[in-house]
Amino acid sequence: MSNTIVSPSILSADFSEFGKAANDVDASGAKWLHMDVMDGSFVPNMTFGPPLVSAMRKKTKAFLDVHLMIIQPGRYIGEFAKAGADGITFHYEAEIHAQKYLDEIRGFGLKAGIAVVPSTPVSALEETLPFIDLALIMTVNPGFGGQKLIPECLEKVKKLVKIRESAGLDFKISVDGGVNESTAGSVKSAGADILVIGSAFFENSDKKGLVSRLQG
Ligand code: DX5
Ligand code: ZN
Repeated sequence: MSNTIVSPSILSADFSEFGKAANDVDASGAKWLHMDVMDGSFVPNMTFGPPLVSAMRKKTKAFLDVHLMIIQPGRYIGEFAKAGADGITFHYEAEIHAQKYLDEIRGFGLKAGIAVVPSTPVSALEETLPFIDLALIMTVNPGFGGQKLIPECLEKVKKLVKIRESAGLDFKISVDGGVNESTAGSVKSAGADILVIGSAFFENSDKKGLVSRLQG
């Protein structure tokens, strides 16, 4: 039995039916729900903020895996914690004082995550790793769902697995972007613990089958 966690990304849901998306996630057997917050500055797209996290908190028991793609994310940690996030992940590239805000996230009793875009090396994270519960490796340039996974990014996952082992740490590694049934095998064998899946989840009519195959 694998410990792989599937985290469907609400970015690919029908935005006129968020309640249905929550039910679909719960019914699929997925234990996490990934929520992409975009500000139109850090990434060329905009989505939603704390009010939707708060609304989804009422609709699902899933672990709310909030992925902040916003500049200076430290400004909003408290808002997302109050809204009911279970984990907050922000970008290394977007925050000078990462350690301070990772500590703040943990101070709220939540899981703290750091994310990197494809062009940021995982070595940049080394001094931050003792303060995280989750490292999110983007395998597409963030902003939109439905893009093709950049296979070279999986080398970063493999490197991070080695760094984690040599440092004796136990954070989880999440892979986000272009994960589907064809790419999931290589993503898992690279060492991902969490698979974020947007379009491949919401476009699949057999979500339960998909989740059980990916968790297996
Ligand atoms: C992209 C987001 C992803 C996105 C993944 O910027 O961070 O979470 O929803 O979507 P797919 O799985 O379609 O690549
Ligand atoms: Zn994401």
